[in-house]
Amino acid sequence: MENPNDKTRILFVCLGNICRSPAAETIFNQIASKHKINVLVDSAGTSAWHEGELTDHRMRESLRKFGYKATSLSRPFRPETDFDSFDMIIAMDEFNYIDLHEMVRDETDEKKLFKMKEFFISQSADFIPDPYYSGPSGFELVITLLEDASLGLVNHLKEKNAK
Ligand code: 4NP
Repeated sequence: MENPNDKTRILFVCLGNICRSPAAETIFNQIASKHKINVLVDSAGTSAWHEGELTDHRMRESLRKFGYKATSLSRPFRPETDFDSFDMIIAMDEFNYIDLHEMVRDETDEKKLFKMKEFFISQSADFIPDPYYSGPSGFELVITLLEDASLGLVNHLKEKNAK
């Protein structure tokens, strides 16, 4: 699909789209805007379990503590439109990545798939851990990991745009 605004379109994906991917959407949007990177950002879940819901109240509270405000509503990933509407589709963990990979239609779709951990700068983790059954420290760890990867993603886009 032609991209008339020359914005990089990024979709963050987790399981429920109520904890990690809306947090990634919120954090990355704020960091990209600070670095004057032109992006269009959204998030989705590989499940439709929480469709229409606000971000989990525990994640909203942790985000608020870190200075962010989450406003997105949960929606499922839609392969028939999302692969065409986004340039990068970034999975929070291995399960999300495998689920997305099963939906690719061709090599073009496949090349759009990434894992958030690929963009870590100073953090190291194999994935963004699901905080749903954790206490507040699980939510705060997610935010710390997402802040680091968001900065790495900004750097990746700056390098790509400079080429
Ligand atoms: P998320 O977290 O994938 O980061 O949004 C979860 C949200 C809900 C559930 C699991 C993980 N759930 O089992 O309903």
